[in-house]
Amino acid sequence: MNAPVNQAPALIDKHGRHIDYVRLSVTDRCDFRCVYCMSEKMTFLPRDQVLTLEEIHQVARAFTRLGVKKIRLTGGEPLVRKNVLDLVQNIGALPGLEELLVTTNGSHLEQMAPALKAAGVTRVNISVDSLNRDTFRQMTRTGDLDQVLRGIEAARAQCFKTLRLNAVILKGRNDHEILDLLHYAMALGINIAYIEEMPLGEVSDHDRLETTCSNDEVRAVIEARHQLTPVTMKTAGPSRYYRIEGSDSRVGFISPVSHNFCESCNRVRVTVEGRLLLCLGNEHSVDLRQLLREQPGNEQALMDTIRTAMDIKPLRHHFYDKDAPQVVRFMNMTGG
Ligand code: 5AD
Ligand code: SF4
Repeated sequence: MNAPVNQAPALIDKHGRHIDYVRLSVTDRCDFRCVYCMSEKMTFLPRDQVLTLEEIHQVARAFTRLGVKKIRLTGGEPLVRKNVLDLVQNIGALPGLEELLVTTNGSHLEQMAPALKAAGVTRVNISVDSLNRDTFRQMTRTGDLDQVLRGIEAARAQCFKTLRLNAVILKGRNDHEILDLLHYAMALGINIAYIEEMPLGEVSDHDRLETTCSNDEVRAVIEARHQLTPVTMKTAGPSRYYRIEGSDSRVGFISPVSHNFCESCNRVRVTVEGRLLLCLGNEHSVDLRQLLREQPGNEQALMDTIRTAMDIKPLRHHFYDKDAPQVVRFMNMTGG
C-alpha cells in the first residue's frame, strides 16, 4: 500500500520554497482596456473554457487544505464576474485561510466594498495610474476616474487592514504624476505601490522598451521630496516597502524586471481556464480544469496534482533575456 499522500500538507518546491500564497484569476474580462494590459480589441474566452465559480471554490479549498494561508482574487477585473460575491463569501469561509485579498480597478467598489468586507476580504489593491481624467481615460481607454475615486472612498469607509493603490508608470504618459499619486495616497493615509511594466502579451500601441519606467527612476523622483526609510519586514514578493517621513502611508516598488525576487517566491497562480501557473515569467503549467471536469468532486486527486506540480516550479523568470522565449499571455489571462 502506498504511504498516505497528505501527511505533510505543506507545498514545498524543488528549490525549497514554501508556497503558501495563491493568486486566482476569476475572469479574463474587464471593463477597462489599460494600454499596458490589453490591446484595444480583445477576444475573451468562451464560457465553457472558464472555470465555474464552484470549480474555482474547489481549487481554493484544495489549496487551503495544502497549507495555503493567503489567496488573492484577480482578473481581468474580478468584480465584473457575475455572482462573484458568492465566491468571495465561500472562499472567505475556508478554514485555515488568513488573508483574502482582492486586486481591482475600482470601477465596482463603490457598490461592492461593504459586501467584500462582510465576506472576509482583508486587503484591497486598487489600480490607479493617473489622477487626471483625460490621462486616466487614455491609459485605461474606457475608465472613468471619478467612479474609481468614489470606489476608493467606499473602500476606505470599510477599514480594510490595508488599502493600496497600484500605479504603473509609463514614460511620456503618466511619469509626471508620480508625486501627485503619492500625495493623494498620503492624504488618504493609504499605501501606494509603483509597478514596472511587465512584458506580458504583445500590446498594440507602444514599444515597451521605450515606455518602461524603472522603479529606480520613480524612487529618485520621490526621494527628491521625501525621506524614505526601508521597512525591514521582508515581504516574500517582488515589492520593497518604505516608510515616508511624517506619514502613515507606505510606498512600495514592484520591480519584476530590474530586481530579481525569485529566490523568495512563495506564490503560484491559477488562470481562469484552470491552468496552474508555476511562475509569472514562464509557461510551466498544469491543467487543473481537465481534472476538475473528469473527476468532479475528487479533492484528493486535485490536491495530489497541485502538490506534484510544485516540482516543476522554475527557479526564476527570464523577462528580457534575449534567448528566452517571449511570454505571450496577457496580464488579464494571468492574474495580476
Ligand atoms: N505590467 C505591469 N503591471 C501590469 N498590470 C497589468 N498589466 C501589467 C503589465 N503588463 C497591473 C495593473 C494592476 C495590477 C494587477 O497589474 O495595473 O495594478
Ligand atoms: Fe483591466 Fe486591470 Fe487589465 Fe486595466 S490592468 S485592463 S483594469 S485587468
